[in-house]
Amino acid sequence: MRTVFVNGNYVDENDAKISVFDRGFLFADGVYEVTSVLGGKLVDFEGHFSRLTRSLSELEMGLDVSRDDLLGMHRELVLRNNLDEGLVYLQVTRGAADRDFAFPPEGTPNTIVGFTQSLNLINSEKAKTGISVIFVEDLRWGRCDIKTVQLLYPSLASMQARKKGKQGAWFVRDGFITEGTANNAYIVTKEGTIVTRDLSPSILSGITRKAVLACADKLQMKVEERAFSVDEVADAVEAFTTAATIFVMPVVEIEGKQVGDGKPGPVARKLREIYIEESLKAAT
Ligand code: PDD
Repeated sequence: MRTVFVNGNYVDENDAKISVFDRGFLFADGVYEVTSVLGGKLVDFEGHFSRLTRSLSELEMGLDVSRDDLLGMHRELVLRNNLDEGLVYLQVTRGAADRDFAFPPEGTPNTIVGFTQSLNLINSEKAKTGISVIFVEDLRWGRCDIKTVQLLYPSLASMQARKKGKQGAWFVRDGFITEGTANNAYIVTKEGTIVTRDLSPSILSGITRKAVLACADKLQMKVEERAFSVDEVADAVEAFTTAATIFVMPVVEIEGKQVGDGKPGPVARKLREIYIEESLKAAT
């Protein structure tokens, strides 16, 4: 049984309760972060905290607790759940109030929830073989840069992939890839250039993306941050995705077409290796 965090208390997961009037539940009026854990330590808590504060401020939502409180909560959850490898999920909502589309009165306390999930991040079976993805039209709202809990469309896209026996979906808008359902998307061109969508309200600014691009820079790999098309994907020699839950995940098939030789490519493998090495060093 897991110990979870609800509004200042550590409780057994079966005893955790939030209000039916919570705005996260009624309006998806909440934001979240997923921080990976390696060897019982947090990977880039600062990056996740800073994106959390940005998401909150874009939604004009206050935060009742401090950075130190949240860091303490993450550490306490890892400790109490004996978590060696996996993630800490954090959700902050605008709190509980009588149902009204307009925001509740100032001073309504946030609902803050946290829990852990154990995962094989380093020795991931999927990373050894790579995954297959499909294209799905990107019908999400225009503020994908805010990490809200409004995840119904990505959930539908995931199911579409699952029903076809594939492991993920890449969103396409106007013929160009935006990102994956819960990850950032990359291709490697014939010339060896890594291409990933530039930051804008169309995608989430991934914490893993930033770290992986820094690794690529260190390895003197050529990177272009720009929109890339469905046609360019068809010509790519490699593809991969990144997120806190998968690190660097090779993509070996897209829309039924093999990418390169259908095996995880050297760029994705190298970046995964370096990213893990750097994260193990930097985790706190
Ligand atoms: N998702 N793009 C989207 C739409 C995401 O939901 C995520 C993360 C990312 C990658 O961000 P990061 O590298 O900071 O994890 C990109 C998390 C992991 C999730 O929903 O489980």
